[in-house]
Amino acid sequence: MSFQPEAIRAFERAGWQRAASSYGSSFAHATAPFVTPLLDAAEVSAGQHVLDVACGPGDLAAAAAGRGATAQGLDFSAEMVRIARSIHPEVVVTEGDAEDLPYPDGVFDVVLSSFGIHHVPRPELALAECERVLKPRARIAFTVWATPEENIAWSLVFDAIARHGNRSDAQAPPLGGALNQIDQCARALEAAGFVDRSAEIVRSEWLLPNGRALLAALSAGTARMAALLAAQEPSALASVADDIDSQAERFRCDQNLAIPIAAVLARGRKAGD
Ligand SMILES: C[S@@+](CC[C@H](N)C(=O)[O-])C[C@H]1O[C@@H](n2cnc3c(N)ncnc32)[C@H](O)[C@@H]1O
Repeated sequence: MSFQPEAIRAFERAGWQRAASSYGSSFAHATAPFVTPLLDAAEVSAGQHVLDVACGPGDLAAAAAGRGATAQGLDFSAEMVRIARSIHPEVVVTEGDAEDLPYPDGVFDVVLSSFGIHHVPRPELALAECERVLKPRARIAFTVWATPEENIAWSLVFDAIARHGNRSDAQAPPLGGALNQIDQCARALEAAGFVDRSAEIVRSEWLLPNGRALLAALSAGTARMAALLAAQEPSALASVADDIDSQAERFRCDQNLAIPIAAVLARGRKAGD
């Protein structure tokens, strides 16, 4: 299939619009542990003007504001924007697309993005836009999910679908760009003109009562994974749920499972004097 950025954008926007109302009680628990590493990587501090691209409900922008920064968020889902504005009134949230940021050149001290860049049809355009709106020598930091081998929450689902369902059933256009490894993220920053680049794996755990809760959180709070799950035959989905429920038990710590998750955290600086 030829590359169709508008099909990817429409699929992603519809998925995030649907997920928005349950995102805070589901998938946001997986992204939350990476907020502090992102703020630290970009050295966010009081007085800075910070932009959070693909902000979802705005928790990262709000955490930047908690450090004394003036924080703005941007997301292309009107529903995410509405929620972000209602729960974080201290953050100015704008509806817009990461490939076409509605800001002048050179206005931000820091641009952040938490698990957003890989959803954009052309991540390279989004990173070029981030570079454009940063002041000279200002910092960018972003996270994307690491490969399923590192991300057990994902591999539990993919392995169960491989055993009982069909991975190719998903009614989803392919991702715009592969962006789940250290070297890919470092190259993407380089292509957008950033200097002082580095990328690393950051690990955490997603606490959930059982494997079915993992399945429910991914179905309710994501776009692409939810589409893959929804596309499975009902009988296959029941077997997938049983499989995840039993396989996930090896991560049990008392009341909860502590399921390993991992991000690539990439950072760089805009060139300048
Ligand atoms: C996994 S959520 C991450 C939300 C939040 N940053 C977090 O870490 O919890 C992905 C977000 O990216 C947004 N998004 C995806 N593609 C986008 C685009 N092209 N422009 C702006 N936002 C986009 C979605 O609407 C969604 O809110």
